[in-house]
Amino acid sequence: MTNVKTENTTETIKWVGGTDGHLDLIDQTLLPNALKRLACHDIETVWEAIKMLRVRGAPAIGIAAAYGVVVGLQQAADDDADAFWRTFDESADYLATSRPTAVNLFWALDRLRALAGTLRNGDVAQAHSALLAEAQKIHAQDREMCHAIGRYGADLLQDGQGVLTHCNAGGLATAEYGTALSVFFTAQDQGKNLHVFVDETRPLLQGARLTAWELMQRKIKSTLICDSMAAQVMREKKVQAVVTGADRIAANGDSANKIGTYSVAVLAKAHGIPFYIAAPSSTFDLSIESGEEIPIELRNAEEITNGFGKQTAPTGVEVYNPAFDVTPAQFIEAIITERGVIKSVTKANVLAMIGSSTDAV
Ligand code: MRU
Repeated sequence: MTNVKTENTTETIKWVGGTDGHLDLIDQTLLPNALKRLACHDIETVWEAIKMLRVRGAPAIGIAAAYGVVVGLQQAADDDADAFWRTFDESADYLATSRPTAVNLFWALDRLRALAGTLRNGDVAQAHSALLAEAQKIHAQDREMCHAIGRYGADLLQDGQGVLTHCNAGGLATAEYGTALSVFFTAQDQGKNLHVFVDETRPLLQGARLTAWELMQRKIKSTLICDSMAAQVMREKKVQAVVTGADRIAANGDSANKIGTYSVAVLAKAHGIPFYIAAPSSTFDLSIESGEEIPIELRNAEEITNGFGKQTAPTGVEVYNPAFDVTPAQFIEAIITERGVIKSVTKANVLAMIGSSTDAV
């Protein structure tokens, strides 16, 4: 795109330096008009970046939060172990309040907490280094998981197919390559030509702003549609599969994803089109039985009434703005994970694939 101001890198998340370094992110709120990075030198900036969707997408939120703890620890003196571990606990608890739905956030913080539990009696500077190394491991493992998801998912698609996706589950939402988009990117790498229909994804337009941008960068044929056009596109037989990401998957396979995903899944079922979820094991929450227990984030009315700075509804109108919905397992043809494909989405099959451990590969 010609109007994009680039800064030579499209790495979504980077850690710069050692334990005294900083977190460096693409500010996704500025895309597609500007590709700019945000340097996070304090934990409040990391929290705000997650809250305001400068960094977004379940795996990317988890990675950013892990690095955010390392940034938070810079405020604690290295020679006072009590203060260091108090700051650790406060940092992890604080970042956990940024967004409620994507379980990857809590999964990443819990990984750091588990490691911290083994380090509390040791040297504080070494603990800080070990926590940074764990954040970097979470980051690297996400990259591997995305590529593995792509390999399993690409086998489900055929050359020449039309596919539809909702929101952005691409490289911007993960360490690299994405989950749903990894399936398309890998299919393309295998020489399959796909035509991707991109739901714009009201109200914050992650599909229009981010997915369309990523697909155009990869030169994958793509067509942007308003969310309300998906049914017509399916009736016209333009799509043969739907692939989306997820923010939290319950033990029975019910999957939370960006608001509007549920309606796409119902439409796909009505048209006999397979609806796939692509997600890493870190997105599964086996502590909950069903989607009923998934907390759904409610966001500000202004996202609907004053989207992108323009008022489009009467002042004072009542608004309901859930950021996610839950697609019941019965609408999901299969869940594509880095460990393989869960065909026939049942609790038994989820447990067989993901087991009790949701640690990364
Ligand atoms: O509110 P967002 O933009 O963070 O929502 C993101 C999604 O719903 C994604 O589809 C999901 O996190 C999967 S990202 C691989």
